[in-house]
Amino acid sequence: MNGNGYLHHPSSIGILACELYIPSLYVDQSSLEIYDNVSKGKYTIGLGQQRMSLCSDHEDICSLCLTVLSRLLDQTGLHPKQIGRLDVGTETLVDKAKSIKSVLMQLFVDYDNTDVEGVDNINACYGGTAALFNAIHWIESSFWDGRYAVVVMGDIAVYAKGNARPTGGAGACALLIGPNAPIVFEPGCRSSHMTHVYDFYKPDLSSPYPVVDGHLSVQCYTSALDTCYTHYCKKALMNIESQSNPLSIHEINLSTFAAILFHTPYVKLTQKSLARLYLNDIIRACSYIPNVLIEKYKNLDIRSSLNNKDLERDLIEHSRELYEQKTLPGLYFSQNMGNMYTPSVYYSLFSFLSSQSNEEQLYDRRILLFSYGSGLASSMYSVVCRKVHESRFTLAQIQKSIKRARHILDYERIELTPDLMDKLLLEREKNEHKVPFIPLQPMETLKSDDIYLKSIDKNHRRYYEKFLRNDNSIEKNKEDMNRSIQQLYTEYFQNHKMNGYTN
Ligand code: ACO
Repeated sequence: MNGNGYLHHPSSIGILACELYIPSLYVDQSSLEIYDNVSKGKYTIGLGQQRMSLCSDHEDICSLCLTVLSRLLDQTGLHPKQIGRLDVGTETLVDKAKSIKSVLMQLFVDYDNTDVEGVDNINACYGGTAALFNAIHWIESSFWDGRYAVVVMGDIAVYAKGNARPTGGAGACALLIGPNAPIVFEPGCRSSHMTHVYDFYKPDLSSPYPVVDGHLSVQCYTSALDTCYTHYCKKALMNIESQSNPLSIHEINLSTFAAILFHTPYVKLTQKSLARLYLNDIIRACSYIPNVLIEKYKNLDIRSSLNNKDLERDLIEHSRELYEQKTLPGLYFSQNMGNMYTPSVYYSLFSFLSSQSNEEQLYDRRILLFSYGSGLASSMYSVVCRKVHESRFTLAQIQKSIKRARHILDYERIELTPDLMDKLLLEREKNEHKVPFIPLQPMETLKSDDIYLKSIDKNHRRYYEKFLRNDNSIEKNKEDMNRSIQQLYTEYFQNHKMNGYTN
């Protein structure tokens, strides 16, 4: 018995429910190619991106996190007193000392619950995974008090003008974590690779933009992937053998998994990553690999092959079918929202889960996840989907939440022209630490029940409010809505220019 009187060791710890944030604004990547005067296909084929999410000045990282957490509480019907831990993962900092977690406590104090452990976790795109591991470890520990944990992760990913800008994006999600879950983190099946490198970092605390060595970051990502996969395969095999499973697996390889999902800065990188894991399986001479490939690459030194483009192309061809089955179904959100930093790999999980029409086909299937945060920290781990008994938190419910988000993604977003996007980002850059500050961009982009930034006072204190829609603009058809909001934004920036705001 632990100190809190709980007799049993909790088992099957994982995701019980989720809520996703879909920003209302986006820019189309093919329009951006024309606007940026780059060759046609560079962003849409070369990077594999279709659309990129943008945030208005009513949206900051706290408003995104408040909104998803508040929706999670509403949708699950949980009382805030049932939450004993709340961890946040982000790299979008608005304060060097105060946690976003503390801002989120506003949703608990009215319910007389301040006994909620956890603070923010920061390490580029890895903070969400660190937050998730903390929540799982709390439930597994002697300090667990029997209540649920919640993990909130989100980012507004913006890059300075230049080649990294089309790999921006935004998103946030809230995950309810507890035992007897329909998506379980497999015990013992986890590896990490952590080291010191300057591939992407944010040393200028006054700027929203990172300093990024893009090509180095891709190399670091790829070698972290190799290392994590090597260690994951060893650990997972040992773990499965030690369970003396009658359906014993003798080898861990890509065919072990129903899905193979990655942190997704841009879609093309996941195709290269899957091809890279396939190369690892070739070199390990895994049983499903054709002999001709094993022979072809048996003398290859994998460590010195990071920049070998011919090899990369060959492997992409050989692994295309695996990619289309196991990775592509996980890319819908990333392709249409861009890099979300901390929640990116979890949006891949959501995308894959919502691509499966029948939850029963997911039962007992393993999904491999790779989380990467520059600097660098990375982990590979797996989840297993299961049918739950005597619980209202089911896979079908999770799929329902994701489908609601997909509906917003497909039917309720508003396109901005690249020119308006540029102005929006320039204004965000200029207002980064401006106080006092009142957001003035059109509020028509907000959805009912969104929690939005109302103002920042001269002491940098941020105030938020729930948006309650009381007009009928949502009933306008999509084209009218798009046109009128583009118009509102055009007028907004014209007025700001007239008032002395110039770029
Ligand atoms: N049609 C089709 N493909 C094209 C076209 C075209 N017209 N033009 C270029 N391409 C291809 C290129 O051949 C290249 O393919 P390859 O990757 O197979 O070689 C690809 O598009 C990208 O083109 P590059 O010239 O390499 O792109 P660039 O140097 O402009 O920038 C980069 C790419 C480095 C990814 C940049 O966007 C960046 O810095 N992004 C941010 C960093 C990042 O996302 N890192 C990933 C891990 S860390 C993290 O998550 C933040």
